[in-house]
Amino acid sequence: MSADGKIAGDDRTQVRISSDEDKTRVKGLRKQYDSILVGVGTVLADDPHLTLKDRDYDTNPVRIVLDPHGKTPDDAQVLNDRAPTVMVTLEGCARSWDCDEIIRAGKETLDLESVMQQLADLGIENILVEGGGKTISSLFRARMVDRYTVFVGGLVIGGKDAPTPCDGDGWVAENGIKLTLEDCEMLGNGALLTFKPFYE
Ligand SMILES: NC(=O)c1ccc[n+]([C@@H]2O[C@H](COP(=O)([O-])OP(=O)(O)OC[C@H]3O[C@@H](n4cnc5c(N)ncnc54)[C@H](OP(=O)(O)O)[C@@H]3O)[C@@H](O)[C@H]2O)c1
Repeated sequence: MSADGKIAGDDRTQVRISSDEDKTRVKGLRKQYDSILVGVGTVLADDPHLTLKDRDYDTNPVRIVLDPHGKTPDDAQVLNDRAPTVMVTLEGCARSWDCDEIIRAGKETLDLESVMQQLADLGIENILVEGGGKTISSLFRARMVDRYTVFVGGLVIGGKDAPTPCDGDGWVAENGIKLTLEDCEMLGNGALLTFKPFYE
């Protein structure tokens, strides 16, 4: 996020926030995880491919998209053949994609417990969540976040409507979710903060 706590412009377009050092860190981080997860809002805004250039289909992490209403277009980069993709949608969503797996869980809203169980059944043991704010908020709300890392870059984006790392519908818990700061590291013109949540 930027130094004023935004993760994109107020028109939801991507802004370069990471330093070169942070980009290298994110690449290293992706290599440590079985899977990378984003919400459909990020797919629609940024069209990310979520792959590592030096890896192929068999060695890239699995890409997971939370898309309850089936909005991901067929030509989205996240559906390309560079890595396996799991689409997650509602039970009643008729949409289907040319991808490796489609998980359907929940009637009105996504049943995240069921989603995690079905992902575990596919052999996925850990997930790197890369955003956006609504997705991160829903995972905090479900008390499923076990580490929160945020790079704070040296720029101000501004705009009261610009997305932030934890958006969604207001408070994720009555008094917020408490975090313990585990580490703080300078990475070029910014700082990487690592927090561990504790749920009361
Ligand atoms: N700076 C960064 O590192 C970074 C990283 C990622 C994204 N971004 C920015 O973040 C913005 C997108 O963020 P966003 O908050 O709008 O989108 P998002 O979190 O990527 O996606 C939100 C959508 O995903 C679905 N969703 C996510 N979690 C869900 C859950 N638990 N249950 C049901 N549905 C769920 C919902 O789809 P429905 O609307 O269909 O219900 C929801 O509206 C973009 O501007 C992007 O550029 C920045």
